[in-house]
Amino acid sequence: MPLEDCRTIELPKIQSSKGNLTFIEQNRHIPFEIKRIYYLYDIPGGEVRGSHAHKSLQQFFIAASGSFDLILDDGYNKQRYHLNRSYYGIYLPSMIWRVLDNFSSGSVCIVLASDYYDEYDYIRDYDEFLARVIYRDNV
Ligand code: TYD
Repeated sequence: MPLEDCRTIELPKIQSSKGNLTFIEQNRHIPFEIKRIYYLYDIPGGEVRGSHAHKSLQQFFIAASGSFDLILDDGYNKQRYHLNRSYYGIYLPSMIWRVLDNFSSGSVCIVLASDYYDEYDYIRDYDEFLARVIYRDNV
């Protein structure tokens, strides 16, 4: 899918003197039904995660704590996003190559996903990703 289909979504933020609260409701704040939630934490300094695309999975990335960068690539263009607020997330449709890096110490990345874990939905080879994008756009 084109990079323009990736978008930053601001989530509700309930502020009080006792701290902040953010919530996410499927189909209201994010455009898919949530079947899975996973999170990345205890990420060693300088580590790089991701480096794959998904054939059909949609996802929503949040920096629940700390910060990290998300580099998105649709096969034609790349864009780097810096996530550093707990009340913002980035929606990724399928077929976006993503790399996560620049994790701050103690950061937590929460990911909401539209389907269960399925290794067959992954494209882990960048050349295969590009070949699929080109094939899709020329049939
Ligand atoms: P992977 O998605 O490659 O991690 P990242 O993109 O964050 O670097 O997953 C790492 C490993 O964890 C891989 O062996 C698959 C496994 N895994 C699951 O078993 N279930 C899951 O929901 C996810 C996301 C990964």
